[in-house]
Amino acid sequence: MTISGTPSNDELRLAPVQTHHVRKPLNHDSAVKHVSGTATYIDDISEPVGTLHLAPGWARNVVRGRIRSLDLEPVRKAPGVIAVLTAKDIPGINDCSAALGDDPVLAETEILFYGQVLFLVIAETRDQARRAARLATLVSDPLTPIITAEDAVAADITVLPDYQFRRGSPETGMTAAENKLTGVFHIGGQEHFYLEGQIAMALPQEDGGVLVYSSTQHPTEVQHTVAKVLGVPDAAVTTEIRRMGGGFGGKESQANQWAALAALAATKTGRACKLRLDRDDDMIMTGKRHDFRVEWQAGYDGEGRIRAVDMNFLARCGYSADLSLGVNDRTMFHADSSYFYPDALIRSRRLRTDTCSNTAFRGFGGPQGMLSAERMIDAIAIKLGKDPLDVRKLNFYDASRNATPYGMPVEEHEVLHDLTGQLEASSQYWERREQIKEFNAVSPVLKKGLALTPVKFGISFTLKHLNQAGALVHLYTDGSVHLNHGGTEMGQGLYQKVAQVVADELGVTLDMVRITATNTSKVPNTGPTAASSGTDLNAMAARNAAVAIKSRLVAFLSEAHKCPADLIGFHNNQVRLADRVIPLKQAVKEAHLARIQLSHAGFYATPHITWDRDSASGRPFYYFAYGAACAEVTVDIMTGEMTVDRVDLLHDVGHSINPAIDIGQIEGGFVQGMGWLTTEELVWDEAGRLRTHAPSTYKIPAAADIPADFRVNLYESKGNPQETIYRSKAVGEPPVMLANSVFCAITDAIASLNPGVVPDLDAPATPEAIMKAVQAIRSGKGGAE
Ligand code: MTE
Ligand code: MOS
Repeated sequence: MTISGTPSNDELRLAPVQTHHVRKPLNHDSAVKHVSGTATYIDDISEPVGTLHLAPGWARNVVRGRIRSLDLEPVRKAPGVIAVLTAKDIPGINDCSAALGDDPVLAETEILFYGQVLFLVIAETRDQARRAARLATLVSDPLTPIITAEDAVAADITVLPDYQFRRGSPETGMTAAENKLTGVFHIGGQEHFYLEGQIAMALPQEDGGVLVYSSTQHPTEVQHTVAKVLGVPDAAVTTEIRRMGGGFGGKESQANQWAALAALAATKTGRACKLRLDRDDDMIMTGKRHDFRVEWQAGYDGEGRIRAVDMNFLARCGYSADLSLGVNDRTMFHADSSYFYPDALIRSRRLRTDTCSNTAFRGFGGPQGMLSAERMIDAIAIKLGKDPLDVRKLNFYDASRNATPYGMPVEEHEVLHDLTGQLEASSQYWERREQIKEFNAVSPVLKKGLALTPVKFGISFTLKHLNQAGALVHLYTDGSVHLNHGGTEMGQGLYQKVAQVVADELGVTLDMVRITATNTSKVPNTGPTAASSGTDLNAMAARNAAVAIKSRLVAFLSEAHKCPADLIGFHNNQVRLADRVIPLKQAVKEAHLARIQLSHAGFYATPHITWDRDSASGRPFYYFAYGAACAEVTVDIMTGEMTVDRVDLLHDVGHSINPAIDIGQIEGGFVQGMGWLTTEELVWDEAGRLRTHAPSTYKIPAAADIPADFRVNLYESKGNPQETIYRSKAVGEPPVMLANSVFCAITDAIASLNPGVVPDLDAPATPEAIMKAVQAIRSGKGGAE
């Protein structure tokens, strides 16, 4: 033990624990509450008497403009309105950005994008606030907005400096390569479409303090933002969140603004204030997955083995930086997918456009990088007349070719080969390939496509300091346990997994572990729940806390009961003392009377991460999570309609802590990725207004879109080679990229129309995009030359 009483990783390794809950496919802790409507979301919390309701005011006719005057008198006079606030009412700093200070909470002199919030209405009811918000009159000087990535390239305007990875000599490699292919590929963004939209409720407290319930993945950042905006110390602000109705990255930084506005209103009025965004406003105002223009060139030999790549990722970041640095870095980290590039130049431009500020979305830029690699591989295979799966396998990392373009070795290349091989067999890839060829030969209108694609996803925050977590565990004198940690629950099952770990560590049944809401006054200075590392970090911190409490109990019991420490064990709410068994309750009471501390704040920091961004060297990821997917689709080439007929997924979660939750994450991640690549299309008009801001125009997958034949399995892993919690692997984001198989299968179906021509198919492969690619390929025009 260290001085602080926190066990080291070495001690944890020496403490084998009987697993009564870990590894069991237990329900999500709130499963019954979710489906019976009794789970408490922020809008379900009883409102204090006198709660006021808020609505953001914005200009529906301005995309980019300088504000000349804003007449709010009609708003103030509207029924039920208590107050209307503008930037001038902010006592602290008018910024809700994650880092760079470039996200105004309320506009001051300029409107930077369509949907920017100009003022805040505080009213007796939400309906009154929303009606009043439309009554302002704005006079502004319009400025010509920059909307597309191409516009921003032409204007040479970015939110962050360019960045690149260079390995070997891409120029020489490209010249030396037998064949070369060049293409441009557009990848669309994605709206988070969390079922619970952005929401915050703030309650004023004594002495200028405020308690903020915020639907956020990052309570600490909400706390800091509220403190900054109000001009009060961090300690005056508490953020709490029991659960989100989905976050998907959309509440990693973008919950800040609404929490800040609710807190501002609460401190101005001295009453509780709630801001629940209307769905259209939510979709218009908040950032999304980054869309990209990808310019690529690949040099390869006659077999399809890649010699050199040059990939240029042009990302539409929106009006501010938000999390674009990390997102675009992750795109670059995943531009290799699972393939070895001997010579590589991977470039990234973070373009500034006058649109909402794009942000984290499950995969955090990784999916766009990986899909670009799959596009290159498909193009090479089509040009060579080879099966794409053969070209994929030919380029896989292996024992001798295992360094990524950023220098980190791919240590588990055997898992990549083994897992893909297993799926290749279980999905009967080659038999079905033959059947599909036969089908396509006689089917003029319906064309089938098949693809098997890999996933390799780096686990850790690439911003090193975020790889830490805290937990607070209390053991009460009746043997029940209070569990708290810095991770947030957004449906992914984090709370349950951590509870399973703590229950086993303390030898109690799960019903004795009280799961409690994430709260910045219990565990401070946390990172966001993101990068899929919620369980890796928080379960370790919580386990460390439990181990510390247990160690103190053992030391006490050993002396009090004259029993060697190694003969003391905990399980089933009991303590075994050599050949005696006493209730845990009794042991804890004795310890309490002897004044033993029965509470502990645990801590964990991920080891072995050494990434240095400035020199682009070191190890960014603790490990990789792997997976593979085989998708079969049918495309109607007369209408562009597409159905996903069968999907086989095999995914690596190491040794699963909870196989039921992990499979749920794999299914959900895949379907969400499939939506991104097939039906979810964001459309901005030429003026720069988002036209797809409701479910009527923006189509997420529905139950009927789930593949009719959907086979999902966990890879039989030897366990994470790194010492993660119970040798498990993170699962939250990687499965999104299993959906690349669907996009590649659609490409495959279209490619059957004109062998040797690469379909010019952009993502998402909507019916329109499919029809465009079909028409192009029929006239011999391809997407890569
Ligand atoms: N699953 C559900 N049901 N809801 C969510 O919002 N978010 C995803 C993923 N799975 C999400 C989800 C994202 S973006 C991440 S980073 C991880 O969960 C975060 O949780 P974890 O780190 O505990 O896996
Ligand atoms: Mo997830 S995009 O890292 O919140």
